[in-house]
Amino acid sequence: MDINQDRRDLMRNSALLGLAIITPSLPTFALTEQKANDGKEPEVTATEDLMREHGVIRRALLVYAETVPKLRQNASSVDPVALQQTAQLFRTFGEDYHEKMLEEEHIFPLVRKQGANLQHYVDVLTEQHQRGREITDYILAVTNAGKISSQHAEPLAKVFEGFVRMYENHAAREDTIIFPAWKTNFTDKQLDEISDQFEDIEHKMFGKDGFEEAEKKISNVEGALGLADLAQFTPPSPPKS
Ligand SMILES: [Fe+2]
Ligand SMILES: [Fe+2]
Repeated sequence: MDINQDRRDLMRNSALLGLAIITPSLPTFALTEQKANDGKEPEVTATEDLMREHGVIRRALLVYAETVPKLRQNASSVDPVALQQTAQLFRTFGEDYHEKMLEEEHIFPLVRKQGANLQHYVDVLTEQHQRGREITDYILAVTNAGKISSQHAEPLAKVFEGFVRMYENHAAREDTIIFPAWKTNFTDKQLDEISDQFEDIEHKMFGKDGFEEAEKKISNVEGALGLADLAQFTPPSPPKS
């Protein structure tokens, strides 16, 4: 049965007959889809995999960004353990796995051959990986004590600001320019095979599901720093114009 076709038909009919009709049908569809997956984890495509890794990386960047004003206000109140854990996660999951094993090994070599513009992008992205590693070394060193000394507070705040700015731009260009360009080298079937290959690398590197573990780790850090509740980031309504 083509579930997507059925759902499209249902949507079209519901649009014609009014929304009320869709409600009783939803549980049936939820059950059908569950059966289709047969209890297995749904398939993650290679680029979805890379982008959800960026999601974990971005959450580490948000931890750094939230720490900046606290460092400037009262550095001794900042928990160095949570920052140390964030930097360790950035090292193992972000740098050693996502950057080195996937992007530098599989993505960049192909994209580099796809024209001068993309070649230039890959050069800059590779330099940024390198600068990021220097920065992670620094964060690991500065957060390796019982508390962050006042002498390190401002330099660390500046390093965080620079790193977040660089990496937000970095990941956004990869998501919208580099990964789509890379995908054009393959058929859907080949992309499926590459996705399995990426999963094997992940298992070899972490012994289990690296993404799930990384997501758990960043959740724990957010919890320790009072950043777990997403609603706190909703801004107030803007002034009436
Ligand atoms: Fe990258
Ligand atoms: Fe990336």
